[in-house]
Amino acid sequence: MNILVTGAAGFIGFHLSKRLLAHNYSVIGVDNLNGYYDVRLKKERLKILESNEKFQFYKVDLVNQEALNQIFKNHSIPIVINLAAQAGVRYSLTHPQSYVHSNLVGFVNILEACRHYQVEHLLYASSSSVYGANTKIPFSTQDSVDHPVSIYAATKKANELMGHTYSHLFNIPTTGLRFFTVYGPWGRPDMAYYSFTKDIIEGKTIKVYNNGDMSRDFTFIDDIVEGIVKLLDHPPKPDTKRNPCPSSSHAPYKIYNIGNNSPVRLMDFINILENLIGKKAKLEFAPMQPGDVKETYADITDLQNDAGFTPETSLEIGLGHFVEWYKNFHD
Ligand SMILES: NC(=O)c1ccc[n+]([C@@H]2O[C@H](COP(=O)([O-])OP(=O)(O)OC[C@H]3O[C@@H](n4cnc5c(N)ncnc54)[C@H](O)[C@@H]3O)[C@@H](O)[C@H]2O)c1
Repeated sequence: MNILVTGAAGFIGFHLSKRLLAHNYSVIGVDNLNGYYDVRLKKERLKILESNEKFQFYKVDLVNQEALNQIFKNHSIPIVINLAAQAGVRYSLTHPQSYVHSNLVGFVNILEACRHYQVEHLLYASSSSVYGANTKIPFSTQDSVDHPVSIYAATKKANELMGHTYSHLFNIPTTGLRFFTVYGPWGRPDMAYYSFTKDIIEGKTIKVYNNGDMSRDFTFIDDIVEGIVKLLDHPPKPDTKRNPCPSSSHAPYKIYNIGNNSPVRLMDFINILENLIGKKAKLEFAPMQPGDVKETYADITDLQNDAGFTPETSLEIGLGHFVEWYKNFHD
């Protein structure tokens, strides 16, 4: 079976594609290989995927609707997993248009392709950042997510709204995946776990925001991939209850949190990293960054009930894999 993975040269798309290929799916990868972070990393990931003959790659921007449609014309594609997006909270304060381009215009093009080429299940990346100013923990898909605090979060919430509309109007089963701080080998250099590792190794000072008073539900990449794979076979069905909860609908629409369900305090995270690297970090304490949130913590009840899956990798184990990869890759 063919599966289209957008953002296939990205961190999550690479790992997911690798896993799907190992499960004997044929993967059609799409990515524009943009320069948001080191393109070499994207090309290295791609090289690994392209060594498998069941992987076919298109260097296409989601905004190029004609090129995108051509891919759907060339292949029969029952399942689409949309991971391509402009990611990053901080960058969205300075480059909002980039989020409009990829996350809004690009996503509508994906929805339109799913509509016109009879896709049976669309899964797409949302984000824990949609919880924005929410202070109730753990974050539940039953909670209101009407108070985003960055343009990044607003575009992810918009994806969920647009997904719902297409589920309703055209009966396309859509599954939105709210990922919580994903980390692991081949990860993203713009994320703290990556830049902290680099700076500790190089003896540089790291900035600790909100004076260290933050926590994150760090989720290991293999757990994210496992969660997605488990949900492939569960296209959402209409919820027949009179008043469906916010994460479901009378349309075939569903939202899941995929997180580790065990937040770690920033200072403990730094401590684990120091132990793994075998070197003390030089710290500079700084105030909270605009757009940032103090805490994330996933309620994963729906994932457990529907997919029978609970992420279990501890930060010590997962970061151990990352640090080992980092040292080899940057040798
Ligand atoms: N990594 C995390 O912690 C995390 C957390 C929550 C949500 N997410 C979401 O998960 C998805 C994957 O994230 P990631 O960490 O792998 O990021 P990533 O930046 O490594 O991967 C995204 C890929 O999409 C490609 N891309 C971006 N815009 C495109 C466009 N217009 N057309 C075609 N390709 C385009 C990029 O070149 C990149 O390779 C994103 O939607 C992101 O917002 C990630």
